[in-house]
Amino acid sequence: MTKNLIDPQDLSVAEIDGILTLAQKIIDDPDKYSEVCKRKKLATLFFEPSTRTRLSFEAAMLELGGSILGFSSAASSSATKGESVGDTVKIVSCYADIIAMRHPKEGAPMLASMKSDVPIINAGDGGHSHPTQTLADLLTIKREKGRLDNLTIGLCGDLMFGRTVHSLIKAMSRYEGIKFILISPDELKIPDYIRTEVLDRNNIPYKEVYTMDEVMGELDVLYMTRVQKERFFNEADYIRLKDTYILDNSKLALARPAMSILHPLPRVNEIAVEVDDDPRACYFRQALNGKYVRMALIMTLLGLVPEEDR
Ligand code: CP
Repeated sequence: MTKNLIDPQDLSVAEIDGILTLAQKIIDDPDKYSEVCKRKKLATLFFEPSTRTRLSFEAAMLELGGSILGFSSAASSSATKGESVGDTVKIVSCYADIIAMRHPKEGAPMLASMKSDVPIINAGDGGHSHPTQTLADLLTIKREKGRLDNLTIGLCGDLMFGRTVHSLIKAMSRYEGIKFILISPDELKIPDYIRTEVLDRNNIPYKEVYTMDEVMGELDVLYMTRVQKERFFNEADYIRLKDTYILDNSKLALARPAMSILHPLPRVNEIAVEVDDDPRACYFRQALNGKYVRMALIMTLLGLVPEEDR
């Protein structure tokens, strides 16, 4: 089993399936796991804002009977004095048994993992990767659709900077019968390395389109994303592109009755609030699933999965 989780591909399909199965067991019987991490400490080192990821990590550790420490912005850490990421994790690994780190720079959690004496979990690095969001996405798809194979998945919005999209493509490409439909303007298409090193290399079928309407009826899953304002160099470009796609009830009328709508959140305008009442809207359940997969991941990386659950 991997010691760190930096990229979804650090986990084998069997390891991912094991984490999802354990998450479902936690959902079914949370009391059984309420003291599994007693006397263990999770540090959350968030150099970039977060609501779901940081708080769900902290809730996960607390619900496992462990404790939490950490910081929620670079401004409240000694990074402001010039301390390096490597030195920061070297110090924090003296105080904690496992570390979840979010950083605006791609590769920072990878660097941290080389310096740390305890497991490092990438909680999002720049526009690169967000593997624990992917675990939440996979658990949601599995619970909503009953399977992770033979699905047509539409990814819509900011496919360039949306790290959750990159991680989800990497993970889902390893299941049978997956087809992607990539819905974005030219400026926000998936990065070339995802196209060549993941989709083309693994002969994954995909097509790229500009509108939701032309493909809505084909989708089993629609994964909406926010245009990532914080990654743009030019505010005028962000303003021009931010409302390219808005899912509302009129667009949803074109979708299959069983299509599942996912979104890593936070949303801005890309899903109208009226959609929240549609049974196909899974994004709030997806956020809750994020806590359960993080519980399963913490237990797994700390080697604390009970014998009968291995
Ligand atoms: N989905 C997600 O990463 O949300 P936060 O930025 O609130 O953690």
